[in-house]
Amino acid sequence: MDMMARIEQAARALSQLGQPRAAVVLGSGLSDVLPLEGVLALSFGDVPGFPVPTVAGHAGRVEVGKLADREVLVQRGRIHYYEGYDLAEVVIPIRAYALLGVKTLVITNASGGIAEGLHPGDLVLLSDHINMLGANPLRGPNLDRFGPRFPDMTSAYDPELRALTKEVAQGLGIELKEGVYVATMGPSYETPAEIRAFKTLGADLVGMSTVPEVIAARHAGLKVLGISCVTNYAAGLSGQPLSHEEVIETTRRKAAELSRLLTALLPKL
Ligand code: HPA
Repeated sequence: MDMMARIEQAARALSQLGQPRAAVVLGSGLSDVLPLEGVLALSFGDVPGFPVPTVAGHAGRVEVGKLADREVLVQRGRIHYYEGYDLAEVVIPIRAYALLGVKTLVITNASGGIAEGLHPGDLVLLSDHINMLGANPLRGPNLDRFGPRFPDMTSAYDPELRALTKEVAQGLGIELKEGVYVATMGPSYETPAEIRAFKTLGADLVGMSTVPEVIAARHAGLKVLGISCVTNYAAGLSGQPLSHEEVIETTRRKAAELSRLLTALLPKL
């Protein structure tokens, strides 16, 4: 089946869940935040056309439910490039949400902190990104139904959404920092030399997700907000080895705060 047919098939299955205008992707260790009311759900494996996640801690489930009377879609868990899928497959969910009528996408992730002043547990609004995957989900024939061959990425992370999010966070007494995210392929963590190089390039945070989804979302004309939870100091900055357990532990510690922020923000989108 060709890619467009696969995405349409997925969107048809998801349309049984509702007609949400906003979607949230919850990443590593964050997949339990943001409880919804009146949920209808499908696991990734039950959405025809969807790739199925393979990593522990990434549940892979799409829910549509209500948050303060607004219908929202919440994706719990995600697909990563390092699992072996093509980037075009990694972004099938995002493109299916676009066909479903989603206009705003909130993407969360866990990251290593590179910039001075970033510490484990910090919540950071993404202001921009650097794609170090060496690949792009839009490679290959352009799917004109979504957008143009050469989509603009100047304001990938919507400035107005960022301003609104800062305002909401301030009202809740939640501190939000801001930074540039660099995506690496993984699954190995970076070397200290790579982290020094990324710092020189202008990166504040490093992770293994988000960038493909943001590219596909912007191609399809969605507004994007990115929020990262810093789970560890990036390689070489603390003298400690990095571990997936530490990443999950830190996100769990910050889950309630992120949930409060998203609960207050989403009905305003
Ligand atoms: N590097 C890459 N991905 C990550 C990290 C990191 O330090 N922490 C959480 N995800």
